[in-house]
Amino acid sequence: MKEDAEGQRTQPGTGMDGTDVPTGQPGYDALAELYDRRFPGPWERPLDRHSVDAFADGLPRGGTILDVGCGTGHVTVELAFRGFQTIGVDPSERMLEIARKRYPSRTWILGDAHFPADAAPVRAAGPIVGILARFSLIHVPPAEIPGVLASWAANTEPGCQVLVVFQCLPDEDRETEEFEHVVAPAWRWNPSALAKALDEAGFAETWRVIVRPDEGHPYPECHLSAVRR
Ligand SMILES: C[S@@+](CC[C@H](N)C(=O)[O-])C[C@H]1O[C@@H](n2cnc3c(N)ncnc32)[C@H](O)[C@@H]1O
Repeated sequence: MKEDAEGQRTQPGTGMDGTDVPTGQPGYDALAELYDRRFPGPWERPLDRHSVDAFADGLPRGGTILDVGCGTGHVTVELAFRGFQTIGVDPSERMLEIARKRYPSRTWILGDAHFPADAAPVRAAGPIVGILARFSLIHVPPAEIPGVLASWAANTEPGCQVLVVFQCLPDEDRETEEFEHVVAPAWRWNPSALAKALDEAGFAETWRVIVRPDEGHPYPECHLSAVRR
């Protein structure tokens, strides 16, 4: 058992190829069942589905999509139903257990938001045509985001599409702000700041949509699409 930068206890893990992989998401491990009951389906609001449809529509059918922070896998399999190969990656064993039990024929691997280049299913998959990261980069400390995005760029080819969905800041003043999240430490981003980080890593923004807060969603949410140059 070791401790991460937040002082949280993390458990070393072993990937499918026997190598050590970053793992441990104490909040999601503890609350996985509760999370699963609270979010039984993939879509909370219509735009959640429409933004994933727009992302998927631009990708070659049959290609492989990496779902970063896939959680219980319910959005990942929506992409599988649309004819893509999928690889879901998440640092929480408990979230992955739910995904594996529910969708055993799909590929689920343990790992954090960095591109899992050493994982056997990823090496076997060929070029990744798309990367989806819905409400998962919020849990990566902002200082680590450039490294995460650089790892995506280093392991993808021009044309690879990215869709990042995240709670965002309403103004252009600040880049990021830690916010209260019931499960794990989390940061919301100014959409332009995250678009800039993507751009600096090699992903040019193609579109963004911002959904305003409502009763169940205290913060605006940004759906940000980019393509690898
Ligand atoms: C709010 S859930 C979203 C799950 C899924 N993407 C969806 O749209 O339903 C956030 C997920 O991010 C994962 N996560 C937490 N920290 C992460 C990190 N550093 N890198 C990648 N994923 C992380 C959690 O384990 C959790 O499964």
